[in-house]
Amino acid sequence: MQVRPRRSVLYMPGANERALEKAKSLPADSVILDLEDSVAPDAKVDARGKVCKAVKDGGYGRREVVIRPNALETAWGTGDILAAAEAAPDAILIAKVAHPGDIISAAKILKSVNAPEKTKLWAMMETPQSILHAGAIAACGADPENRLTCLVMGTNDLLKESRARAVKDRFAVVPWLAMTILAARSYGLDVIDGVYNDFKDEAGFRAECEHGRTLGMDGKTLIHPSQVAPCNEIFSPTDEEVVWSRKIISAFDRPENAMKGVITVDGRMVERLHLVMAKRTVSIANAVTEIEEWF
Ligand code: COA
Ligand code: MG
Repeated sequence: MQVRPRRSVLYMPGANERALEKAKSLPADSVILDLEDSVAPDAKVDARGKVCKAVKDGGYGRREVVIRPNALETAWGTGDILAAAEAAPDAILIAKVAHPGDIISAAKILKSVNAPEKTKLWAMMETPQSILHAGAIAACGADPENRLTCLVMGTNDLLKESRARAVKDRFAVVPWLAMTILAARSYGLDVIDGVYNDFKDEAGFRAECEHGRTLGMDGKTLIHPSQVAPCNEIFSPTDEEVVWSRKIISAFDRPENAMKGVITVDGRMVERLHLVMAKRTVSIANAVTEIEEWF
């Protein structure tokens, strides 16, 4: 089982050259070079040039590199996506997705300019329509032509659009997160949680990482370097989880259990579905060890 950890996914404003440079030294699994919300209108075209140059020049090593263009219907959208396609990042993150057609259109643009196969599409889930259409959007992932591999929660935009209140424990946000997770899992996609704005509040940030992980998130989008280490820690399988998973794998490996669907391990019922989960946990743990060694 080949898996890619996407625990920590750090945004940086495309106009901020220091941040683009700094990201090359941070232990983030993925970096999103942003041309959208974090870049002022007057700086958009300049940021496009800076971001595409940074991606072409490289230096991000094994970090996954993602560009977020402005939405296609804006003045910059088409220019951004064409420039991003030419820079050939690992993924292009489509902002303000509302319908499956937004992903299909982006995939067609990439095909029309012969963007390399390695450049995938990620979708921002940040409009009310994106949540209502989460299943249909995620279903784009069933056709490799659409390149869709990952959904990203845009919780700040969802709070704005819905007029919900941002309260502790994300009472209003949980249904949107949960619907998106089910949509993603229906089509084998990853899903990354939204950002935590109060980046000086480490305790609050940690609690929100745990909250997202408990819901089923693969990782969290981040806004500041100080959030990377705690996020990596919380979204990595714990030692306890890995030990338990290895126990399950070796129990099912025993010849006397080869034909069994259900067995007992340490007094607990374990089924073959737990074996599938255990194998995934061990694969993620191995991939985490590999990238941590590289950092
Ligand atoms: N990615 C990479 N490096 C970053 C960074 C980020 N998101 N945020 C800050 N840094 C760097 C700074 O450039 C600075 O580097 P230096 O030590 O080489 O000078 C260092 O980390 C410390 O930064 P700090 O002074 O604590 O933060 P700040 O006050 O300059 O910036 C923010 C605070 C919130 C404006 C900034 O972190 C940011 O722009 N975050 C991303 C916002 C974003 O992309 N939003 C879109 C999606 S929600
Ligand atoms: Mg947004």
